[in-house]
Amino acid sequence: MTASRDGYEIRLPLPDAFTLDPSPTWAWLRQEAPVTRARTATGHPVWLVTRYADVKTVLSDPRFSRAAVVRPGAPFPAATPPRPGTLMALDPPEHSRLRALVSPTFTRRRVEQLRPWIRQLAEKYADQLLAAGEPADLVRWFARPFPLEVMCVILGVPDRQRDDLRRWTDVVYSLNAADAEPAGAAYDAMEDYFRDLVRAKRERLATPGVQPEDLLDELILARDGADRLSETELIGLSTSLLAAGHETTANQIGCFVVELLRDPARWERLRREPDLVPAAVEELLRFNRLSETGQLRIAVADVELSGQTIRTGEAVMASVGAANRDPERFDDPDTLRWDRKDNAHLTFGYGVHYCLGAHLARVELAEALLTLFDRLPAPRLAIPAEQIQWRRTVLRGPVEVPLYWSADAPGR
Ligand code: HEM
Repeated sequence: MTASRDGYEIRLPLPDAFTLDPSPTWAWLRQEAPVTRARTATGHPVWLVTRYADVKTVLSDPRFSRAAVVRPGAPFPAATPPRPGTLMALDPPEHSRLRALVSPTFTRRRVEQLRPWIRQLAEKYADQLLAAGEPADLVRWFARPFPLEVMCVILGVPDRQRDDLRRWTDVVYSLNAADAEPAGAAYDAMEDYFRDLVRAKRERLATPGVQPEDLLDELILARDGADRLSETELIGLSTSLLAAGHETTANQIGCFVVELLRDPARWERLRREPDLVPAAVEELLRFNRLSETGQLRIAVADVELSGQTIRTGEAVMASVGAANRDPERFDDPDTLRWDRKDNAHLTFGYGVHYCLGAHLARVELAEALLTLFDRLPAPRLAIPAEQIQWRRTVLRGPVEVPLYWSADAPGR
């Protein structure tokens, strides 16, 4: 394999990116070219960073800006760039002000209060999966609708538009440059949808005695009361919370189930020892790459990483997936181990942009697994794990996970 530090021979996504196991190129890059030039799917030059220590620096060092990514002319790796007004497109201090408005909803304490409700929702969707009959697709019946409903209820998005929201999110996350127009249109449609919703909610909140019922109501009051966020920020926050808050968890549920059922002994052990589930969730989070390269950043000063100088204005992508398998940081990184100590994976990021929904995601993932252990008597993949198709978007996840679960299902 060849990769030049001066040329642009690494093309993203890697040809073997959308597979069950990570491309061997990541291990090679970590070893041979830990900070290397690459080109994104949209043809833009970027620095690609793969070692744990360097990835952590890129995620947390203020010399790497997220706000610069939405400035005119900045490169972007996916079909459509992020929009201004979202947390992911801001640097401190604007970022800190906006984050302070939403973070109370997602604290560990608030999320723990939601756990019983989250469990009930997981059970509802598990029942729908069972009712669909064998073999049923876990992604369609469980992994996607469950976190979508969690996010919609927290935000205050009514039922009727959920299919559209799911469809729009899919296109927005496309990696395919040819999807630029539909992705832009899907983004516009989501923003228009939230503008209408905010208008309707504002009218309701104007009625004397009416109390806020959800996060969107609280954000509208924050905007209208003390003018602590702009209308662009209000719409940007709603759109990005909805998208970032369900698509990520949905893909991880699919990946987790595939990884566990790939070796049924793993599933069986966790089913018998549910106390292991929190540690297993952490380990599965480390093990499953959510995206190939993570979010883009732009250097706002010259920075040296692993002997390579990244110049002001250059774009950088930090591969969290590669960092999470770095043998310099994790013993035996390619093995799933429920007893792993000090599992400081970077799957939720690091630094000021650390995932706002990390506690929520952990609770959803744990309750999803516990529910499936309970409800599916003898689950197995209806096709070999190696034949599962992976979605070609910014976020990695299975297209379908067909499951059998009864003892007399075909192949037993
Ligand atoms: C397993 C599920 C999830 C994973 C793996 C995940 C991963 C991440 C990562 C890696 C970042 C940091 C990106 C960066 O710094 O470049 C992030 C940020 C973020 N995540 Fe998550 N996420 C998940 C679930 C959620 C959920 C359920 C929510 C719902 C609230 C959410 C909302 C956000 C938001 C709003 C940000 C931006 C935070 C900021 O910029 O301050 N995520 N997430």
